[in-house]
Parts: sequence; C-alpha cells; structure tokens
Amino acid sequence: MDTSRPRPSGGLPATAGTGAELDETLATRRTVRDLTGPPLTDGEMSALLWSAQGITPAGNRTAPSAGATYPIELYVLTADGVFHYRPHHNDLDPVSSVDVRRTLYDEAVGQESVRDAPAVFVVTAVFARTAAKYGDRAVRYVHIETGHVAQNLLLQVTALGLGTVPVGSFDDDAVSEILGLPADHEPLYLLPVGRIAP
Ligand SMILES: Cc1cc2nc3c(=O)[nH]c(=O)nc-3n(C[C@H](O)[C@H](O)[C@H](O)COP(=O)(O)O)c2cc1C
Repeated sequence: MDTSRPRPSGGLPATAGTGAELDETLATRRTVRDLTGPPLTDGEMSALLWSAQGITPAGNRTAPSAGATYPIELYVLTADGVFHYRPHHNDLDPVSSVDVRRTLYDEAVGQESVRDAPAVFVVTAVFARTAAKYGDRAVRYVHIETGHVAQNLLLQVTALGLGTVPVGSFDDDAVSEILGLPADHEPLYLLPVGRIAP
C-alpha cells in the first residue's frame, strides 16, 4: 500500500486516489494572499492559461462547458498591460498597454494581492452564449463553469509552486471600466498569481 499519499480522515482507503501527483496538488493547494514578483515566465503563463481555458490535443477544452457554449473569456493583467486570451490561437491579444493593477487595487478591490501579484487573471463571461441554449438556467451554468475554470487554474498554480487567492469581492462596474471590457464580458472572478512572499 502506498502510505506516502495524503490520507483523508474517515474510512476510505488511502489508496483510493489514482494519481499521486494530483493527490499531492490537491492536498497542498491553499489560498495565499502575500504574493510578489518577478513576472511569470512564458512557460508559467502558458500553463496557467491552458489549464483554465485551453484547447486539448483532442480539440476539447480543459474545463467543461454547459452544452459546449463556452461563455468564459479570460483576461490577464500584468505590468505590460491588459491581455485577452484566445484559446484557439493559444495567445494573448493585447487590449491595452496600461498596467491597471494599482488602479484596480485603489478603486475597486483594496486587496494587496491584486496590486502586488505579477499577474492577475480575470474570469469574465458572456452569459448570452449559454442563455441562447438554456434560457434562465444559464446563470447557474455560467457560475458553475467559472468554478471549474478557476479550480483548474488554482491547481496548476499549486503544481507550479506559485501562489494565488481567488477574489470574489469587487465592484463589477469598476472592474469592467478599469479593464475596458466589452459590455457583454461580465467580470466574475479575479485570480492574482505570483511567487509566495517569504
Ligand atoms: C467564491 C469565493 C470568493 C472568495 N473571495 C475572496 C476574496 O475576495 N478575498 C480573499 O482574500 N479570499 C477570498 N476567497 C478565498 C477564501 O477566503 C479561502 O478559499 C478560504 O479561506 C479557505 O482557505 P483555502 O483556500 O486555503 O482552503 C474566496 C473564495 C471563494 C471560493
């Protein structure tokens, strides 16, 4: 029996997990609020974006989507500006060259991680894509999907030895304005990512 795996309390066997690395990642994920630079490497940035919303080798997405309606649009804020992730190109489309992290901290969030993290991932959604198929039920589905996307990113952050805090407390309108989001891209979650401050 593999006794090195994290063992949950209760009666289930410690060998229930099928992947020791995933077990380790799940066991060590924690919210980290003291984040610092330097900037994420291209490899780290790519891994995080792909985990959250990337295209798999089979042409699917890394996160499930209700009816494959794909309402999520992902942005990244860095010292170099605001960028929009394009899953099919696997690239970052520049939206502006303004570093908005300080403004976001000052005017909308007031959480130091948003100011100090070298990258802030912003999960937004176009509700109409899912509503066209599911009507009022879309609100529930989009929120659930946001959780899938965010958890993928949180686990990849942990696997890379980085830190993050999921931030749900912010002024939606202020975030939309500061980022210059299209009107139908509604911000749902902020995920500042950086090195864990010593
Ligand atoms: C939907 C949601 C919103 C959250 N919003 C914030 C937030 O605005 N600020 C913050 O510091 N932590 C926020 N958190 C993180 C929780 O405080 C944290 O997950 C909780 O204390 C448990 O700690 P753990 O993540 O280390 O297990 C949020 C978590 C969730 C799931």
